[in-house]
Amino acid sequence: MHFLDALLHSRDPHSFHAPGQPTMTHLKWEVRVEFGERRLVCRAVLTFDRPGSVDLDTRGLEIDSITGPDLIPIPYTLHPEVPVLGSRLTVTVPEGNQLVITYTTSQKASGLQWLTPAQTGGKRHPFLFSQGECLHARSYVPCQDTPAIRFTYEAELTVPRALRGLMAAGHTGRQELGDLALERWAMPQPIPAYLIALAVGELESRDITPRSRVWAEPHIVEMAASDFRDVGAMMEVAERLYGPYDWERFDMLVLPPSFPYGGMENPRLTFLTPSIVTGDRSMVSVVGHELAHSWTGNLVTNATWRDFWLNEGWTTYVQWRIREVLAGKDETALEMAILQREFQRDIEAFAEKGQPERTALGTFLPGTVDPDETFSRVPYFKGALFFVALEQAVGRERFDELIRKYIARFRFKSLTTPELLDFIAAELPGVLEAVQAWRWVYEPWLPDNSPAIASDLITAVSRYASAGEVPPPEVGMTWSDPQWILYLELLPRVRCTWKTAATLDGRFRLSERANTEVRWSCLLLAVETGYKAVREKVEQFLASQGRVKYLRPLYRAMAKTPEGLVWAREVFDRCKDGYHPIAVSVIGKILADPSPSAPAGT
Ligand code: BES
Ligand code: ZN
Repeated sequence: MHFLDALLHSRDPHSFHAPGQPTMTHLKWEVRVEFGERRLVCRAVLTFDRPGSVDLDTRGLEIDSITGPDLIPIPYTLHPEVPVLGSRLTVTVPEGNQLVITYTTSQKASGLQWLTPAQTGGKRHPFLFSQGECLHARSYVPCQDTPAIRFTYEAELTVPRALRGLMAAGHTGRQELGDLALERWAMPQPIPAYLIALAVGELESRDITPRSRVWAEPHIVEMAASDFRDVGAMMEVAERLYGPYDWERFDMLVLPPSFPYGGMENPRLTFLTPSIVTGDRSMVSVVGHELAHSWTGNLVTNATWRDFWLNEGWTTYVQWRIREVLAGKDETALEMAILQREFQRDIEAFAEKGQPERTALGTFLPGTVDPDETFSRVPYFKGALFFVALEQAVGRERFDELIRKYIARFRFKSLTTPELLDFIAAELPGVLEAVQAWRWVYEPWLPDNSPAIASDLITAVSRYASAGEVPPPEVGMTWSDPQWILYLELLPRVRCTWKTAATLDGRFRLSERANTEVRWSCLLLAVETGYKAVREKVEQFLASQGRVKYLRPLYRAMAKTPEGLVWAREVFDRCKDGYHPIAVSVIGKILADPSPSAPAGT
């Protein structure tokens, strides 16, 4: 390897791990979940491939001891915490290749959310869940927190007997002892640290297929099982396209409303926001997306967060392909067009902030920038559309062949952007030049040769939207949820007044729809145009869930006027207890300094 390659691509700037150091191969994790103290009391046995000095990632951990398996103490240095990365833990792995670390997590662990009973649906028991991606696993496990390193694990959770302790792994047993229960889990497939996940709460499950069940709080579990009943069909389609599902089970967990994302692809146990449980199956494409990550992301993983588009671009492409088989080309084009609008808003925001480089796929984020802070739809939409462009250049058959080879070649491995490009160049000579791949990957904005997205379903709504017109009742009545979402996204705000919002909502009751996305889009339009009659509904919406994708644009729109800012701060103060630390940090920053516009978020 050329030394510049090593410099530019091998070192993950978001981890203290240095290339050449021993690497983790296995984790044995014993965890006592203490709701009273809001902490995990842990013993972690880390196995490495060989002895030697290592720099581990940690954040906020209180270390009690580090020893070898013989319990002889090993000296270590826990460096002061730096922003974004946390604290470097320097220690030497002894002969025998194992470190035993006993430690406690911080009450403010960035990757854990502790909920009071009042913040759950059941209101009777507390709840805990983790979120590892991107840099948060280090706040609950000392480890090499870079997606370039994979290890297997086994874990033992001690939880209150009334609760279930779940992990994104295979269940190997539950044992009840007095007031406590011990839940055992094993992850036999090697995974990167960001995919270690746990959740503890009053949870029930319903089987959907022999290899899928949904877990949720009791009040919502039936509806979730009904809404996700297509998961078996989705799995079959994905397997037909990209080969066998390698993780044995695909279970889903519906979290309390504060879950900050739409979904998180934790292996064997996808985490989902309850806001996609609508009773009418209208938001299951989120499940399709997380399922697709089983191939692209979890099996083949981005080597650093600079290469995040490899995870999300491929996954969005695969999500579209699954959707195409199950719902047809027109519905898929509609879904693509909605993401395109979100993408356009994001790149406009990057343009305004003078950050065009953030609109390239391959990023060069330094370790001082938190990948969570740069989140946008660029890696999703531009990434997926790049793969559509490649597909169109060589034909679907050859491109499918390439994807299957790619997955076979890199399964259970992590790779960088240049490695993907080298692979494509070798397998499909000339295609990168044909689509001008460098413009997609390393240049800002969208190349002008990018594939067009078209369908009658799109034209039907864009005609009214571009004219700033509210459709007549007989037309609007025929529109589907995704058509309304696209219409509301496309409606040029300069052509709208509060009357547009009032007419739309009066005629079609959009702010009362089951589909969360339609309701949210309508409320956003109302706030942006100053339609005050829905104030209460906006407040209810902001109190009812904590998905950052919904919170950020709403609070930002509220904060545009001085009175609105006062209102936004008031509502935020009332609701923030129900939000995840990630959401509190993002919205807190907006309301402290509401001026610059920023990407919409997930
Ligand atoms: N892996 C992401 C969620 C994520 C991204 C967590 C970045 C932390 C940092 C997940 O697969 C995802 O993309 N979720 C989307 C789903 C949507 C595209 C269907 C979301 O939450 O909006
Ligand atoms: Zn994703």
